[in-house]
Amino acid sequence: MITDKKKVYLKVWGCQMNESDSEIIRSILVQCGFAYISQEEGADIVLLNTCAVREGAVRRVRSYVHELRYRAKGRKLLIGILGCIPTHLKESLVDDKNLDIDFIAGPDSYRRLPSLIHEVQTKQKKASDLLLTKEENYEDIIPARNSGINAWVTIMRGCDNFCTYCVVPYTRGRERSKNPKAIIHEIYRATEKGFPQVTLLGQNVNSYKYSDWDFTRLLSEVSQIPKLRRLRFVAPHPKDFPQELLEVMQNHRNICRHIHLPLQAGNNRILKMMNRNYTQEQFLSLVQQMRSFFPTIVLTTDIIVGFPTETDEEFNDTFEAMKNIEFDSAFIFKYSQRQGTLAAKRYPDDVPQVKKTERIVKLNELQKNISTKKNQGHISEIHEIIIDAETTSKSKDHFQGRNEGNKIVIIPSGPYKKGQAVAVRITDASAHTLKGTVVSFET
Ligand code: SAH
Ligand code: SF4
Ligand code: F3S
Repeated sequence: MITDKKKVYLKVWGCQMNESDSEIIRSILVQCGFAYISQEEGADIVLLNTCAVREGAVRRVRSYVHELRYRAKGRKLLIGILGCIPTHLKESLVDDKNLDIDFIAGPDSYRRLPSLIHEVQTKQKKASDLLLTKEENYEDIIPARNSGINAWVTIMRGCDNFCTYCVVPYTRGRERSKNPKAIIHEIYRATEKGFPQVTLLGQNVNSYKYSDWDFTRLLSEVSQIPKLRRLRFVAPHPKDFPQELLEVMQNHRNICRHIHLPLQAGNNRILKMMNRNYTQEQFLSLVQQMRSFFPTIVLTTDIIVGFPTETDEEFNDTFEAMKNIEFDSAFIFKYSQRQGTLAAKRYPDDVPQVKKTERIVKLNELQKNISTKKNQGHISEIHEIIIDAETTSKSKDHFQGRNEGNKIVIIPSGPYKKGQAVAVRITDASAHTLKGTVVSFET
């Protein structure tokens, strides 16, 4: 069939929130008569859903735009930058002579995408929409979900925490929560469509608040949706983690015993400068409380090294905290100064690159040893995994799945399907993956 629909390719960077937003964008565009394609080749419009959290993320998008224009070799191609770079760099992005793009739209402007595209096509000039509103949460839009086993379900948007290093409160605007009825309805629909797992998403997911609903109540209600096999949430803020939340987890076995709990730094002066609103001691006691509820809970974290003025001794507090807590895994980043943030206004970016590198290498090494030790501790245990791929990056003869702790588990291929739960005996482990053999599975 020949169609004159404009073909759109969408490439996504950044966090899960961008993944989730991309499903909204796709839904809006398809509703308005655009065709969606899964590769850059043949596209009339390329949309880049971008991240601004660190300078490296912005650099990668810039070079992708250059490569894209090069590959298009003068062919007419509209390029739109969406997501967090537009609201971070604002109009300077469309004025940038070194960046050949056609339009920009921030995270709250996706309903306007079809008219922005129309505007560029008819007026032959660049278009932008950067408005952030307290109201927009795309509640009425049914996301065009990527197939797989996990459905991302955004429950709140924006962030009011203003950690001093972070652009997110500026790129995504004020915190707002979705109507719980809409959330529950969305999850019913996802489970009916066959998604065995749902991940509730928010920049500060546990600050969810909608009239007399808080996160604890929402989690409890959602976990009772009949076909929901696994329920996860990301990312909770340590300052908003009441004991009742752990009690809800205890009462509902489909809520995964896995919490991503960003520590950021293990030194109290730095935590205060970051405006994290907890001390190292409070964080440690929260971890202890979590482990007293669930002794084998999987804990993962985010860390920033080289925050302004961080001394070797202060960095060492982070090292010691990580050694002491023993997270299952950690994302460790070098501090990247972000224009417009409080840290950029208040403090010099004075930790030299070589120091940042030295510190990140040290923490990665420490974490690798801890992750390996923890994973090897799983050998001979039986884990339930849900299969999410019928090959792995290294082998066509193996399937891959995730256990409750979200760890990758590799098994020999067999008569199983994607989305199926199988019981696996763990036989081998490294820092990033577990290996095992299937002991039983549902037919
Ligand atoms: N809302 C989430 C995280 C959002 S950003 C939360 O608060 O947990 C993901 C991670 O990027 C953060 O946890 C932090 O570790 C890191 N990050 C954010 N801003 C950064 C910056 N300016 N430099 C380096 N890392 C940063
Ligand atoms: Fe950024 Fe802090 Fe908000 Fe997370 S909680 S998005 S780190 S400001
Ligand atoms: Fe990046 Fe925006 Fe997410 S800055 S981390 S894509 S909220």
